[in-house]
Formats: sequence, C-alpha cells, structure tokens
Amino acid sequence: MFDDFPDLLARVERRARDLLATGPCCHDWDHTCRVRLLAQEIQRQEGGDLQVIELATVLHDIGRPQEILDQGQTCHAQLGAVLADKILLEEGVADSALRRQIAECVRTHRFRNRQGDTPASLEAKIVYDADKLDSMGAIGLARSFHFAGRVGARVHNLPAEALNSPSYSKEDTAWREFLVKQSHLAERLLTATGRRLATDRLQYMWEFFSRLNQECGYPAFECGDAQTNEHGDARAQSRAE
Ligand SMILES: [Fe+2]
Ligand SMILES: [Fe+2]
Repeated sequence: MFDDFPDLLARVERRARDLLATGPCCHDWDHTCRVRLLAQEIQRQEGGDLQVIELATVLHDIGRPQEILDQGQTCHAQLGAVLADKILLEEGVADSALRRQIAECVRTHRFRNRQGDTPASLEAKIVYDADKLDSMGAIGLARSFHFAGRVGARVHNLPAEALNSPSYSKEDTAWREFLVKQSHLAERLLTATGRRLATDRLQYMWEFFSRLNQECGYPAFECGDAQTNEHGDARAQSRAE
C-alpha cells in the first residue's frame, strides 16, 4: 500500500515529534506513543488498516501546539488534518485517497457530537478510542493531576466544589475532570474492544477516587452521582480536549 512503509513511518515520526516538542506534557510525544500502542492493541481485535492507523496516531495531535498558542481559536484536529495531508504529500505519499483517509482520522479524533465530526471509518474509530483511553486508568489520573498542577488547582476537593466551578479555576481538580468527563468516556467509545478496555480503566479510577475520598475524610461518592451536580443541574462543562 505504502512504498517502504517503515522508512516512511520513521520520517513522519520525526516530523511529528518536532512539531509536538513545543506542546504541553499532557499532549506530548509520550502521549502520541501511548495512543499508538493502544491503537495497535485495538486493531489486533477489531481489524482495520494498521498502516493507516499507525500514521494517523503519530500525526493526530500535531495541531495541538498551535491551538495552545492561540488559546483555543484553532481546532487542533482540523489544523492537524491539513498538516497531516501536507506532511504525507511532502514525504512522498502520492495517493490522495490514502492521505484523505489518514487526514480524516486526525480530523475526527476530537469527536464532540458536531455534525460531520463523527469518526466514520473503522480506522478513525480506533484512533478516537485509543486517544480517549489514554485519558483513563492510571495514566489518565496521572495526566489529570499533572494538568491540575499546571493550572494551579487544588489536589482534591469536594464534589460540590468541583462540579460548581468553572474549568481552569482553582477547583479544576483531577476529581472534577473525572466527574465531568472521564467517568462518561467509556460509554462514548466506538469499538467493542475500546469499550472493554475503557470499562476496566474506569473501574480502576473509581477505586482510586474512592480511596482518595476516604483518606481525605470526604463522603463516599457513588457512580450514579456523577451524572449531575449537587443541585441536579446539567453536567458542568469539561475543559477543551
Ligand atoms: Fe487531540
Ligand atoms: Fe491525543
């Protein structure tokens, strides 16, 4: 399908790594490598074109540094798709259909229920699921605490404090991110393998927060309570992903 795929992949990796070097550690090259491993794991069960998936995972967040630079005016998935197409062309992928397939995986990895943003191909669904899985489990927790530290948030807080506060505030804790977003991710994944892996990671996160609440002397919190905040309002807004 691709001429000399290992060499092409190595060249694309170098370019993606350079582009991601200026990004924050939550979405750095390490994240890209983990997403790639997860995508390989899902592909072994679900099938799909592994070469397309590998190139798409390597390129999926290359628009992120620009999005951070202009404080969210750029959508990193949209920009990433344009950059991915350009890089692939420059690296000798002459087949426009193949480039489009990979660019679509990049464009739709940030699925937010907008029309036309839904991952359509199996490869795009796998890239989407792999990216979301890296926000879950032990690594998801580690990334959340890292992010909370960067924005100056508290280490932990009560559900009412977390759910009634805006994102990027002092109350934008890892617990808040879990309640608002991560605890709902498993049901939004698009492949059976992705959902299975997500369910396992979600269970670990509940166990972790249950223990954390206990150690902090906070009341126990049940899974179903994560649907609404203390006033029964709609979910608080999650931060941009
Ligand atoms: Fe992304
Ligand atoms: Fe990502």
